[in-house]
Amino acid sequence: MKLILDNAFAKAGGFISPDAFQTYKTPAEKLNAALHNKTGRGSDFLGWVNLPNEIDDAFLSDVENTAKSIREKNIDVYVVIGIGGSYLGAKAVIDALSNSFSQLKGDKPAILFAGQNIGEDYLAELRDLLKTKEWAICVISKSGTTTEPALAFRILKQDLEDKYGKAESVSRICAVTDAKKGALKTLATEEGYKTYVIPDDVGGRYSVLTPVGLVAIAVAGFDIRTLVQGAKDMAKATGAEGPFENNPACQYAAARHILYSEGKKIEILVNYQPKLHYMAEWWKQLYGESEGKDGKGIFPAAVDFSTDLHSMGQYIQEGERILFETVISVANPENKVVVPEDKDNLDKLNFLAGKRVDYVNKMAELGTQIAHVDGDVPNIRIEIDKLDEYNLGQLIYFFEKACGISGYLINVNPFDQPGVEAYKKNMFALLEKPGFEAETAMIKGRIAK
Ligand code: PA5
Repeated sequence: MKLILDNAFAKAGGFISPDAFQTYKTPAEKLNAALHNKTGRGSDFLGWVNLPNEIDDAFLSDVENTAKSIREKNIDVYVVIGIGGSYLGAKAVIDALSNSFSQLKGDKPAILFAGQNIGEDYLAELRDLLKTKEWAICVISKSGTTTEPALAFRILKQDLEDKYGKAESVSRICAVTDAKKGALKTLATEEGYKTYVIPDDVGGRYSVLTPVGLVAIAVAGFDIRTLVQGAKDMAKATGAEGPFENNPACQYAAARHILYSEGKKIEILVNYQPKLHYMAEWWKQLYGESEGKDGKGIFPAAVDFSTDLHSMGQYIQEGERILFETVISVANPENKVVVPEDKDNLDKLNFLAGKRVDYVNKMAELGTQIAHVDGDVPNIRIEIDKLDEYNLGQLIYFFEKACGISGYLINVNPFDQPGVEAYKKNMFALLEKPGFEAETAMIKGRIAK
């Protein structure tokens, strides 16, 4: 993985001056050290910092064996139930590594998700599909009490039991939850589900390298050892002992902080490979929940190019100048498609004959970067060799580390999410949940006006 901040195409002076950048050397190094020494805010939730080094062979073998026993049931569908940090990491990695049409190709098992929304049609259509499929469930909730996954699990668990009977359904459910507390932990213990623990000191959005992500990724057939190795190598590259000049996480955090200080309040994560769409969704949660508090924080947005150049491209080129982009560039696609010669050349594309489609994509990328920089949209580039487990492991840890440092640079706690409770309180009040009587009376009074 290579981070490029050099403003190669920027107008004179660039967006980030070497002097301004250098100013952040000491703060970024100190804040990185604070993550390692647990001396900064939210220090109870720093289990992710050293996590890749602490994952041992016995644990990986256990997850691999669980995945093997689930796959041996010859299931068509693995339903992964979870939301937010208990959903996006697995979805991001599986999508990035899967064939774009794996579900239509009939690759087994298809990994489908539930409990990440409350759409009744979504759930009804999933249940309908599952009637004719062989399937199993992984239910993930750190708190064990989140409404969306709890609701989906209640319904799908009954369907599974109806289809397979109690004893067999128990062997088809894996629960990932807290070591001690929460309704899911109680249920998993009572029913005897295979259970994995989410460490207390790892928050949802930093949990993809725990069983939260690893179980589903392994069931999907991907190599969790290499994923973890990538993260481990990035943990080394971004460790507290290395200087700012060699630490891409410190540099990315500093660059985005400088841009934010200059009024660039929105960061757009850009990809040119549609398989990275959910990697951007995962990144949006990571940065949005970590930084967006106390009236501060860069708003994380994302686009898939070149698709969205035909929708969002206009705004990015000429709209409010409050944007910067971080481009994830993948050097080598797995496949090769060459543009053929056409004797009639009615589409006038013969000038591309013999060239790879990826060459066209790369020129779109370069042309866009130059255009956007000319339009006063700074570009940061992250180059990875290819979409494989190793590079994704690196990318995940890189973003997590830079996020912790970024949160500390704006002096927020990057590891809590108090704002997420506001909608829950109102929803429970409106649903008349026991224990919320006062809130129910209050909110009903408000909406009656
Ligand atoms: O990052 C977070 O903490 C949240 O997005 C949670 O992961 C999400 O709300 C799901 O929580 P839980 O795993 O407790 O069901």
